[in-house]
Amino acid sequence: MTTTEQPVTTFAGETEMQQKAKDHLWMHFARQSVMEDGAGVPIITKGEGHHIWDSKGKKYFDGLSGLFVVNAGHGRRRLAQVAAKQAEELAFFPLWSYAHPSAIELADRLASYAPGDLNRVFFSTGGGEAVETAFKLAKYYWKLQGRPTKHKVISRAVAYHGTPQGALAITGIPAMKEMFEPVTPGGFRVPNTNYYRAEEMGFTGTEEQFGVWAANRIEEMIQFEGPETVAAVFLEPVQNSGGCFPPPPGYFQRVREICDKYDVLLVSDEVICAFGRIGHMFACDAYGYVPDMITCAKGMTSGYSPIGATIVSDRLYEPFKHGQTSFYHGYTFGGHPVSSAVALANLDIFEEEGLNENVRTNSPIFRQTLEKLLDLPIVGDVRGDGYFFGIELVKDKATKETFDDAESERLLRGFLSKGLFDAGLYCRADDRGDPVVQLAPPLTIGPAEFDEIEGILRSVLTEAWSRL
Ligand SMILES: Cc1ncc(COP(=O)(O)O)c(C=O)c1O
Repeated sequence: MTTTEQPVTTFAGETEMQQKAKDHLWMHFARQSVMEDGAGVPIITKGEGHHIWDSKGKKYFDGLSGLFVVNAGHGRRRLAQVAAKQAEELAFFPLWSYAHPSAIELADRLASYAPGDLNRVFFSTGGGEAVETAFKLAKYYWKLQGRPTKHKVISRAVAYHGTPQGALAITGIPAMKEMFEPVTPGGFRVPNTNYYRAEEMGFTGTEEQFGVWAANRIEEMIQFEGPETVAAVFLEPVQNSGGCFPPPPGYFQRVREICDKYDVLLVSDEVICAFGRIGHMFACDAYGYVPDMITCAKGMTSGYSPIGATIVSDRLYEPFKHGQTSFYHGYTFGGHPVSSAVALANLDIFEEEGLNENVRTNSPIFRQTLEKLLDLPIVGDVRGDGYFFGIELVKDKATKETFDDAESERLLRGFLSKGLFDAGLYCRADDRGDPVVQLAPPLTIGPAEFDEIEGILRSVLTEAWSRL
């Protein structure tokens, strides 16, 4: 267990900093009330490789790459230097009717990685904006085709696609939306690919059959709503929210068939899954399908500067090539020169260090190591792909009975998140679906670190069970 109290960064003003946070900082997706109790909020001050340090000098294993972001690991001086150099040369210029070299080069690079004819890149500053862009483009595209009623979008239960009101209409987590209703209209939900709980969705059969069954629910929804009203389907290659649901074999092939049959666009939301998380630059390559659009962000710069992108097929771009048509959409900081330059250098690191290959080679070992935890009574399922795994916690392994709200609150918020962190592992205890511990470490690690993660999880999950 790496809970070395090595004071790499000592922070003099801890008390003062906590007070300022309490007085002024509004955290995201968080209970502000944690500021009010004596403990305060963890303040992270430094990162190096797959480790982070807090303001008291305590070291942690970053088991979530920040937030599925720091794929190349922390503390890469080269990326910091590229950012500084670009800021000196040209700190900012917009892509509004002008261009700059780093965005041009990055668009070219992303197009070269993208499958099929996905050759056109529209930049944003993050994932939610990339999804928003794809939603607006889908609607506009069909209007330009003379089919203005095609405006609805389909996504999966419990899926997270971002917080802007359009992206929120695609997000499938009612508890995150109800306070903002009415959100943008037109979002419809189909079952996700949670094979562990397929029976609860009324399905029994093999995983392959489940894939076809789940894909067919998309066809059913298109038929229910009317194909002439449906613009696009938004799917993550591996669904994050709910706890890492990989696609069953054949799922995406059937989805592609359905989309083609009904003239519905397929958007691969790769905000988490792109840039090595699944061992490929784009995860659609891992599962052998070509979408009409890819949305991506996070790992593109490994977090050294923010950026997002929507990568679009030649077919979708075609109407914008001519005459007076323009896409009335954009972001001041979309394709920011510093972020674009950092992304290029980050992708160079991927190539030079073979990060995708590292993930592909070691992913089966990571899975096997985590599967050792299945001997614990609280661990119901281990699932995922690449360097992206979820461990579902259950009250009863035989029946797969999950925890009720009060138990979940006590287990996840009351003990597990803090317990894992205190034990030196930063990861995520997520209850947006059934309770899941999620892991998405930097892509630089290997078997020794998998053992370290397993060791910490084993001791904390064992204690969690004893406290139930
Ligand atoms: C699949 C997916 N889409 C969209 C988003 C939104 O990205 P951002 O937080 O950069 O707006 C996320 C964020 O985690 C995501 O996982």
